[in-house]
Amino acid sequence: MPEWWTHFFDEDDYALFLGEPVSPERTRSEAKGIASLVGLQDGNWVLDVGCGTGRHCVAFQEIGIRATELDLSAQMLANALKADSVRPGGPRHFICRGSALSIPFLAGVFDAVTFLYTSFGFCEHEADNTTWLAEMRRVLRPSGQCVIDLANRFREPFTQHTVRHAGSRSLVIDKCLDIERGRVRVRWRVYTGRLCDRDVSLHWRAYTPWELAATMGRAGLVSHHVSMATTTAHRSRRTRQG
Ligand SMILES: C[S@@+](CC[C@H](N)C(=O)[O-])C[C@H]1O[C@@H](n2cnc3c(N)ncnc32)[C@H](O)[C@@H]1O
Repeated sequence: MPEWWTHFFDEDDYALFLGEPVSPERTRSEAKGIASLVGLQDGNWVLDVGCGTGRHCVAFQEIGIRATELDLSAQMLANALKADSVRPGGPRHFICRGSALSIPFLAGVFDAVTFLYTSFGFCEHEADNTTWLAEMRRVLRPSGQCVIDLANRFREPFTQHTVRHAGSRSLVIDKCLDIERGRVRVRWRVYTGRLCDRDVSLHWRAYTPWELAATMGRAGLVSHHVSMATTTAHRSRRTRQG
């Protein structure tokens, strides 16, 4: 059976209930922060893996960085294109559909690769998460860097019951942390009136910084900056032999 993340983001209700997760101002400030963290300059190329609706790429381009959006979900990319058609300043450089497990670009072409707002750690088996990072490392140029932004295992309120409404539809999210396996487990139920249309189980890795550093190491990356603000942002470089 295919893993949940291969189809989950293609359903309308993700965009309907969650939409743009934070304000455009915050997205802009995140893009600026990332550019300064990894020393990006005008004209550098960034690949945003699991870009969703491409909000960070728009913000990168506003500060002169060339951004390429990669996402597996046709629905997410369709929403990105729709937003593009009404945005002043015209279309973005590249929007590409493909999987992080087999990135459709040549080796060594990007100055930086980003995984933002928890776009990593979905695979059930850690070996696949390592492959995901190894692919990212392959497309980085030799001194390139990556930024991984994940929910903070020590600060995120993982035990949560949330209800959201959109017109006649409601979303009920039940979330908990499986400490033994280091995974967040979520039950996502969508109702039209009192009828449950969709009942999905999702799960992803909630890494501690050292667990993530170990997975990075297996992919040939060295972690050299960890920020534990509201999220865990890891910056890493390719190893010299990579
Ligand atoms: C939580 S959303 C984050 C979206 C975006 N980074 C943001 O900040 O709004 C995760 C994204 O990862 C994408 N994704 C999941 N698995 C993927 C894969 N194997 N390859 C590429 N993208 C993937 C999903 O389609 C979804 O758009």
